[in-house]
Formats: sequence, structure tokens, C-alpha cells
Amino acid sequence: MGKAINVGIVGTQFMGRAHSNAYLDVGYYFDLDAPPVMKAACDINKNDLDAFCKRYGWQTQETDWKKLIERDDIDLVDIVTPNFLHKPVAVEAARKGKHIICEKPMAMDAQEAREMRDAAREANVRNMLAFNYRRVPAVCLAKKLIEEGKLGTIYHFNAVYYQDWQIDPNVPYLWRHDKSKGGSGAHGDMNAHIVDLGRYLVGEISSVCCAQEVFVKERKKPDGTMGQVTADDAAYFMARFREGALGVFLASRMACGRKNFLRFEIFGSQGAINFNLERLNELEYYSLKDDPAVQGFRNLIVTEAVHPYIDMWWPPGHILGWEHTFIHEVGDLIKAIEKGTDVQADFHDGMRCQQVIDAAIKSHDGGKWVDVPEE
Ligand SMILES: NC(=O)c1ccc[n+]([C@@H]2O[C@H](COP(=O)([O-])OP(=O)(O)OC[C@H]3O[C@@H](n4cnc5c(N)ncnc54)[C@H](O)[C@@H]3O)[C@@H](O)[C@H]2O)c1
Repeated sequence: MGKAINVGIVGTQFMGRAHSNAYLDVGYYFDLDAPPVMKAACDINKNDLDAFCKRYGWQTQETDWKKLIERDDIDLVDIVTPNFLHKPVAVEAARKGKHIICEKPMAMDAQEAREMRDAAREANVRNMLAFNYRRVPAVCLAKKLIEEGKLGTIYHFNAVYYQDWQIDPNVPYLWRHDKSKGGSGAHGDMNAHIVDLGRYLVGEISSVCCAQEVFVKERKKPDGTMGQVTADDAAYFMARFREGALGVFLASRMACGRKNFLRFEIFGSQGAINFNLERLNELEYYSLKDDPAVQGFRNLIVTEAVHPYIDMWWPPGHILGWEHTFIHEVGDLIKAIEKGTDVQADFHDGMRCQQVIDAAIKSHDGGKWVDVPEE
């Protein structure tokens, strides 16, 4: 058995729980040298830290992320804090020689993302950007079909990511409403996911044209005063891909009735694919090569042993859920650390995604198309 990887997590709420669940489960399903050790959890919110550590089995606690990073018994730092903390924590962790996994969006802007990528490269530590939707088996199958040429030349990547949790104007003011804490709103939060999927499946994006809006201009803070909402509720943009495809990316937290509705459609010269996260075990596939008499979109249930990740789970038709994407993510990362190999999506991917996000903001501000930097 190899040395177990000791994990220190910074942030213990929503993503803190999702990642904790992944560390708990990963050793049962992935073939690892040793399951990760949940060594330390860090949060500034002392009140809930005890209960969090007890529930998930984190061995020790910190309330200052700098102390966590200084510890010799931490090998991997997991960053699940609000976005403004991603860069300082990641850069410091890299300097101390820790491997890093960081939630999306990578940073407040592309400059910060570049500093993070360069710090990780310089320290030669494994680095992962937590784009978990790359690890949905149906999305992996879509990638395989595209790489095999089943779709031919790609003409369109059309993606939407809709939620409706902000529809109620009484939803309180959170860090997510403050541009100085989040960088942007629905744009960095949700467009970042579908931009990454666009890059993963179709390739680099070369230019964008964007419109954003804040529909509810102020929300109530815990102290009863009103806070100005500076982060967008919705950001819609068109894009050109480097290889010639046209793309559409729509993100909104004001899409009434939609809970976590991420859907993409890819149209090529030989076929097409549709994916819907709320039906994540399924992939719709259309092929021009099919017999015209029975031609149409077929609904593939992506739970066969031949499909990516499935052989370590259940028999066909015994479906997976959202939390499995985090187990896949953490499993691939731990394996990469054990073997000393690279793992995607990495900090370079995070930076490239952030460059698209930044270009779209610039396009909205200037009211015109903006080129995405080439490197
Ligand atoms: N991959 C996904 O699907 C997904 C989904 C939701 C959120 N996210 C990302 O995950 C990150 C965290 O989001 P969340 O929804 O868990 O946020 P959250 O608000 O639920 O939790 C953030 C946590 O960070 C803690 N924190 C704040 N400042 C801190 C500090 N200085 N030191 C230590 N802890 C501190 C907070 O107390 C809280 O526990 C964000 O970057 C977000 O964009 C990703």
C-alpha cells in the first residue's frame, strides 16, 4: 500500500459537504494505493465546524487557512470557499508544495487565474479545477463520440444553465451578490461550467459578444440593511470557436421553474448530441448514417460497463447521481497524485475558461464583440 494522501479542506458548507462525501466514498470504488485521509477542515465559521467535522469524520480543525497550509501533515488542499479566496489560498498552498483542487470559477479574473496556474506549475504540484460535469459518464461518452468523428465537423455548441433560486426578491444578500467577493454572478458561477464543457468538447473559443443584467437591484442583509446587488443575475453570450463552430451560452438564476437545468446541444455535419444534467444518465444521439426509415434521436442510457466510470459502479440501468461526479473528480485527482501524472481539468483549463468569462464581461461593458486572448 502506498502513502495515504492527507487532505485539508477550506470551506465547509455546500461544496464542503459535496467534496467530503467524495473523500468518504472514493476508496470504496476507485482502485487507489490508499484511500485519502480527511485530516483537517478549516472554516472561519466556528459555530458549525465541530458538527461538520463529526458528521464527515474530519480529524482536526483550523479557523485560519494559513495555519492549515503551514501544516506538514497536509498533502492536498481543497478550496471550497467564496471565489475571492481562491487565489490567495491556492498560491500559498502551491508555495508550500501542496497539491491543490479548487472550485470554479477559478478566480476573480483571468490575471488572478494566471498567477494561480503559474504558481502551481512552478511548484510542480498536481492541480485540478473542479469542473465536475466533465466527469458525468454521458458527457464523457459525448466526448468519445466527437473524438471518433461520429458528429463530423461541429457547427454548433448551444448551452444553457438555468436556476431559479434568486426569483424570490426576499432571498437574502449573500457573497454571491457582491462582485467584489464573487467576481461576477450567474456568469462566473454557471457560464463557467458550460464554457468549460464547450472547450472540453468542441475546442477553444476565440471571440464573444455578451449581455448581462441584474434584475433585483438590492437584497436584505442579515443586519436588516439593504445591500446593492453588483453581480449579474443572468449573462447571455454568443461565441465563435477557433475551429469555426458558433456557440451560445445562456446562464440565469432567474429562470422560473428551472432548478439546476444544464443542457447542451451539439450539431455536426454527420450527427448531433443532446445532454440534460437533470437526466444525467442519458445522452441523445442522432446519426446521419442511420437507416432513414428508423432515423431519429436515440436516447442512450449511459450505464453500461463499456461506458466511462461505470464498471466500478452498478449493473446496467442502476443509475448514478450528481454526487458521483465529485467522487470521479476526487478519484482521478488522487490517482494522478499517486502516479505523479497530470490531471484535467487543470489550472490551465481554469485560466482559459476565466479568459472567456472576462472577455464576455468586457464585451457587455463595451457593447461589442471581444477577442479571447490566444494564451
Ligand atoms: N462545482 C459545482 O457544481 C459548484 C456548486 C456550487 C458552488 N461551487 C463553487 O464552490 C465554492 C464554494 O461555494 P459554496 O456554495 O460551497 O459556498 P458556501 O457559501 O455554501 O460556503 C463557503 C464556505 O466558505 C467559508 N469561508 C468563508 N471565508 C472563509 C475563510 N476566510 N476561511 C475559511 N473558510 C471560509 C464559509 O464560512 C462557508 O463555510 C465557490 O467557488 C462556488 O462557485 C461549485
